[in-house]
Amino acid sequence: MTDRPPQPDCFLFGRLVQIRPLRYADLPEIAAWPPHTDPLLKAYNLHLNTPADWRHWLNGRLKDRWPYAIRNRDGLLVGHLSLRQMDPPRSSRLGVVLGAPYIGRGYGTDAMRIFLDYYFGELGFGMMRLDVSGANIRARLLYRRLGFNELGSFWQPALDAEDWGSVKDEERLQHFRQGQVRMYEMSLRAPVWRRVRSALA
Ligand SMILES: CC(C)(COP(=O)(O)OP(=O)(O)OC[C@H]1O[C@@H](n2cnc3c(N)ncnc32)[C@H](O)[C@@H]1OP(=O)(O)O)[C@@H](O)C(=O)NCCC(=O)NCCS
Repeated sequence: MTDRPPQPDCFLFGRLVQIRPLRYADLPEIAAWPPHTDPLLKAYNLHLNTPADWRHWLNGRLKDRWPYAIRNRDGLLVGHLSLRQMDPPRSSRLGVVLGAPYIGRGYGTDAMRIFLDYYFGELGFGMMRLDVSGANIRARLLYRRLGFNELGSFWQPALDAEDWGSVKDEERLQHFRQGQVRMYEMSLRAPVWRRVRSALA
């Protein structure tokens, strides 16, 4: 039994990346990514060591998500994204993760651009939601630039509380207190995306 609507097939092309539904055959590439060394990104390291781990991880996601693979123009799997809490045509919640070697090269921006076009166009959703750690400066900048609005913030237990000891910059530290991290709830509506989209290069 699954509590998600069936995931439509798709093949999306950007300037730097291509996006398709994530399949078992994609998982060895994710498993081979070197780990994130930024202390606050360690939670994104997956520890997929065996085919049984891959299967378990993907089966878990397929229960309640639509997962997608992001490949660059050389065909390398550089990231994955997913939708969950799907309430079509109203909204769903996005998660996106690039492998450590692929961060900061424009892949995230390009992937979001083509995926948002598909999401608000062919899939017909009216709003996208996500939540992001206040300390995730790069991701927050990206989301704001794409037109996401910060609806509010809340504190939640930091799974990586011990890793915060090595964080030195105040810009990130202000989002941590007594074992908790400040999260921002963000959303983007279709008309805002259409406005932002036409202004993006
Ligand atoms: C967040 C993420 C998807 C962004 O994708 P990306 O390809 O790394 O980002 P891009 O290269 O497209 O750059 C996004 C913006 O961040 C800026 N940026 C890059 N490195 C940065 C840094 N260290 N600090 C602040 N901003 C930075 C870029 O300059 C760019 O802004 P600009 O175009 O105005 O110059 C990706 O970094 C990632 O997967 N991170 C790990 C997992 C994660 O944080 N997921 C999001 C959870 S909500």
